[in-house]
Amino acid sequence: MKLLEKLKSIEKSAIKEILEINSLEGLENSRVKYLGRKGELTAAIKSIKNVAKKDKPKAGQFINEMKKKIGSLLDEKEQGLREKEMASLENHDITLPGIEREMGRKHPLIRTMEEIIDIFARMGFKSVDSPEVETEFYNFEALNIPKNHPSRETFHTFYVENGMLLRSQTSTAQIRMMEKEKPPLQIVHAGKVYRPDAVDASHSFMFYQMEGLMVDKGIVFSDLKGVLEKFAKEYFGEDVQMKFRPHYFPFTEPSAEIDISCFICGGKGCRVCSYKGWLEVLGAGMINPRVLEFVKIDPKEYTGFAFGMGIDRICMLKHGIDDIRLFYENDVRFLRQF
Ligand code: DAH
Repeated sequence: MKLLEKLKSIEKSAIKEILEINSLEGLENSRVKYLGRKGELTAAIKSIKNVAKKDKPKAGQFINEMKKKIGSLLDEKEQGLREKEMASLENHDITLPGIEREMGRKHPLIRTMEEIIDIFARMGFKSVDSPEVETEFYNFEALNIPKNHPSRETFHTFYVENGMLLRSQTSTAQIRMMEKEKPPLQIVHAGKVYRPDAVDASHSFMFYQMEGLMVDKGIVFSDLKGVLEKFAKEYFGEDVQMKFRPHYFPFTEPSAEIDISCFICGGKGCRVCSYKGWLEVLGAGMINPRVLEFVKIDPKEYTGFAFGMGIDRICMLKHGIDDIRLFYENDVRFLRQF
């Protein structure tokens, strides 16, 4: 009888298949495949009508037994799999500590920036925002930098579309603030500046600066000295000495460059200060009356001072970092140290 042979071969492959299953999902698929409404056994039952009459009882009996056999095999297997699943849950110690995720941290430049802003905040300076994409007016003109000044040339400034540029100094924030608010003014602003310099250990096409400004009636040079000295002592240490060297900046008059005694060697000379004993850290001066006029503040009534410093440089000095590129490479082996 052909049907009987077919049934036997279905039975054989069903048993083999079910024994190899090791997931509850696979088991359910097999149950549907063999015992389901459209399953192989159901199809076999339907084909009984084509079997010779005398063979029908035998075929019917075989099918019933086969159904039982496959059904109980599936049940047995299911129980085994469920027990295994329970056991694996029991072996799972849910009181074990989880997988610890490493915490991120602030970039050393951001930390330096925040530390410095904090010192000035304690002296009453308000930290403000200012745009990085600027016009020539804010980056040069209003800061009294003449049209033919070399810093305006394309190899010193990044120009973008529509006459806009990437600011090359945070001094832009001075103009924006003095335009917006009336004196008395006491602000700091820190952020990125851009210059098309060739990148090396001490130059980057993008770096951070911080700008400070104070405008009121009767502000004099010694106010500037007092504020900067307080900052230097707070940030670099109580023993630090300051030196004001005359300098030229178009937007301040008089102007100075400010050195601090090397806080590593105390002024004796070491690798960090290139054996000079002094470190150059700031540019500053009394705000040029022409700049005040640009922002419609009467220089006969008000005076003020301004200062600017490179955050990268200060962070490098403080932590003994000898290559500015380390700040921008995002190598976690470097960043993790702060
Ligand atoms: N903007 C100057 C620079 O990028 C730094 C500076 C000097 C800022 C003197 C000032 C200042 O506010 O008074 O080199």
